Amino acid sequence: MLIKIPQVNSLNENDVTDEVIYQQRRTFFKKLGFVGAAGLLAQSQKSQAGIFDFFNKEVVKPFQVKPLNYKKAHHNTEVLTPEAKVTSHNNFYEFGAKKHQPAQLAQNFKVEPWALTISGEVKKPITLDYDDLFSCFDIEERIYRLRCVEAWSMVIPWLGFPLASLLKKAQPTAKAKYVVFETLYDPKQMPGQSNRRLGGGITYPYVEGLRLDEAMNPLTLLSVGLYGKTLPPQNGAPIRLVVPWKYGFKSIKSLVSIKLVEKQPANTWHVLMPKEYGFYANVNPKVDHPRWSQASERRITSGGLFTQNRIKTLPFNGYAEQVAHLYKNMDLRAYF
Ligand code: MTE
Repeated sequence: MLIKIPQVNSLNENDVTDEVIYQQRRTFFKKLGFVGAAGLLAQSQKSQAGIFDFFNKEVVKPFQVKPLNYKKAHHNTEVLTPEAKVTSHNNFYEFGAKKHQPAQLAQNFKVEPWALTISGEVKKPITLDYDDLFSCFDIEERIYRLRCVEAWSMVIPWLGFPLASLLKKAQPTAKAKYVVFETLYDPKQMPGQSNRRLGGGITYPYVEGLRLDEAMNPLTLLSVGLYGKTLPPQNGAPIRLVVPWKYGFKSIKSLVSIKLVEKQPANTWHVLMPKEYGFYANVNPKVDHPRWSQASERRITSGGLFTQNRIKTLPFNGYAEQVAHLYKNMDLRAYF
């Protein structure tokens, strides 16, 4: 999120083209010295399947996602962001601070075996292994808007189960007031964790937190898939949080720990830049980020070249009816 977002009137090809394809075109172009339009098209089509070198040899095999059984969402009135964009324009600093890097650097990520622990102020601590993530709860589709603090947004058909279902099983004690989430720490697999430049200067593991009532809200989802399949690694495989009324940085990926605690925990972006990122991070068009106006956003769709898709940002990302009551009598400017 340290990256400067261009003004609407200064969009370049990088802003309107799938980032992975854009980067691969650049590499391809450099190696060739020049290239014709037909060559570029063939290369960009291939790149959807894997990462190819100049001689069309696949250098990184794409991570294998699997189809999931799930209950379909009842209705959706919004245009979905194409899957190719959802899986190639990512923020996952453990795999690089640039949007195209996670899709390139995460393809060898190992999700099996996996262990997610629920601990702390609970009567029944739980550990879920990889298979449990897909079998202990009914998986449903939830089509949510994802609004990044950098002022771009997507509409994503997530698959998952409410965080509340898992927390209820663990039975929070009376002392539990907050929930702390932690991403896997494994610098061998996540190159950004040992390379400060690649990892954007973050001290890892990435951590996040919610108040217990926010965590128990029915909208708060633990996602294990998108577009009908398990999550690709760049989107947070095998399990991540999705909190649709908050800026995207709250939606922490590749979770290994959920801990219930008494006191408000630290969260990664707040620790890194406390004046810019708060704990609450509720989407709020009236409270600007020091570097980005939050009044509007660029919706990433399948739009062609020069499509700007600039839309107004809604309070709580359009979910005010479901969540505004959680913040009654709170000064949302002070608790940003
Ligand atoms: N989780 C971890 N562990 N590391 C990250 O860098 N980035 C966050 C969030 N979760 C991040 C993370 C940010 S800033 C955003 S906007 C969303 O993931 C992006 O999710 P997406 O790549 O699936 O669109």
